[in-house]
Formats: sequence, structure tokens, C-alpha cells
Amino acid sequence: MTMDATRQHFLMCRPTYFAVDYAINPWMDPTAPVDTDLAVRQWERLRQVYRDLGHTVEEVTPVPGLPDMVFAANGGTVIDGKAMAVQFRDPQRADEAPAYRAWFEQAGFEMYDPKHVNEGEGDILLAGDHLLAGTGFRTAHASHAQLQEVFGYPVITMQLVDPRFYHLDTALTVLDERTVAYLPEAFSPGSQAVLRRLFPDAVHATMADAEVLGLNAVSDGRHVVLPEQATDLAAKLRERGYQTIGVDLSELRKAGGGPKCCTLRLRQGKASR
Ligand code: ARG
Repeated sequence: MTMDATRQHFLMCRPTYFAVDYAINPWMDPTAPVDTDLAVRQWERLRQVYRDLGHTVEEVTPVPGLPDMVFAANGGTVIDGKAMAVQFRDPQRADEAPAYRAWFEQAGFEMYDPKHVNEGEGDILLAGDHLLAGTGFRTAHASHAQLQEVFGYPVITMQLVDPRFYHLDTALTVLDERTVAYLPEAFSPGSQAVLRRLFPDAVHATMADAEVLGLNAVSDGRHVVLPEQATDLAAKLRERGYQTIGVDLSELRKAGGGPKCCTLRLRQGKASR
């Protein structure tokens, strides 16, 4: 196994207006208190972890009235300098799409617009030379064909079956070009078989890890940033030679999000995939 870290380029959005005002996934309880200042401090720590690892963090300006905009992974899919904008399933998040689109445009990416519901890197993950594309809760199956056409990577449909793991990035983490970690039970039997075929060496997470959003992790091929509560998963990753860095995003978890949800990978070109 090569354990080379790649320098990454990320887009994040400060949770200035973070709140849980509506419920569009089973984690969200609008009657439970949320500490926005604590959310900001936890998010700043995540940003610092990335900077300390040598990654570059860009920021999109948060918009009042869009409490979930902190989840930058849902802002688009960016590969080889092409940016596919998003279309949210839920009206509460619809206005985030143009805000992220405007950021990609000013940053000079080649823009593509979605024809169907497409929640960006929440559901679409580049794993080696395959695009893994989730469906079942958010991103529409019909969008997978468009992704393949735009990006030119074979798209593998992943059928999600557990509403707590509504986005692919809550059920599966890409660790490096060859390996992933995932919760088998979050996928249909057919998708589990595909995952076994594509990634025979994958790390299987436990339900306890997934329930603290442990799979919502960010790997640079060597260091894996994950929720500190996912202790079993962290131990398994260390056994495989990865360095794990635990972060506490307990406030953002009240909206169903973890480190990966807060982080959109910007892949400028083939060299910096
Ligand atoms: N409250 C947000 C939603 O339900 C959380 C999004 C988390 N993002 C992610 N990439 N999984 O849409």
C-alpha cells in the first residue's frame, strides 16, 4: 500500500447561520437546542486540521436563512476542472445551489447544470477511476447518466436503503485510489455485492461507527479526519497504516452532518485529482 498524502484543495462554508429549523433527515430535531457559536468553533478546528495537514481551504460566503449551507459537500461536484452545480430535493436548501454555482463560476471552473436532483459530493464520490453515485433518498438515479457524460468516469450506482444514511458520504468513505470504508447494511444487497467486487480489501465499519457519522470522513490517502466518537473505525484504520485525526462536530451532527459534509473537494485538473 502506498501511503502518500496528496495536497488537497477544499471549499468550506462557515456555519454563521447554522440552525436546525426544519427536518429533512432523521437526525434533525427542530425542537432541540443548537449552539451556533459552538458549531463555529468546532468548524474552525476542522479548518485548522486541514491547514495543518498542508491542504488549502477556500471559503464561500454564508447566506442568511440557509442554515445547512455549512455542508459544502452538497454544493457541487468538481473533477478535472469541471464543476457540476446541484439541484436539491428539498425546497429548504434550494437557494444554496445558485450561491455555490456563483462561487464556482468566479473561480473559473467549467460549469455544468444538473437536469435532475443532484446533491453533489454528498452522493457522488470519486474512488480511483470510478464515480460512486448514491441514490435512494436524495440524488436521483437519472442524474447518474448525466454525471458519466459530463465527467467521463464510469458511474457506479449505489442504492442506499437506511434513511439515517441518506447521503452516500454518510455510509462510505474513500480512503485512497484503491480502498474505501463503508457500512454494508446501508446498501442494497446488489450494491453490497458491487462494493465487494470493486473493493475486496475495504474496511467494514460497524453500526456504532456509522451512528456517530464516523464514515463521514476525509482522507488525503494517508491521514483520515473523522469524528472522534468513531473509535472502532479509527482503530481499524490505524491497523491499515492510516493516521487518524479525530474532530468533534457534535453540533453539526444535529443536522445530520460531519467532517466530509463540511468539505467539498476541488479537483482542478488531472494532476490534482
Ligand atoms: N441537513 C442537511 C441535509 O439533510 C445535512 C447535509 C449533510 N451533507 C452531507 N454531505 N451528507 O441535507
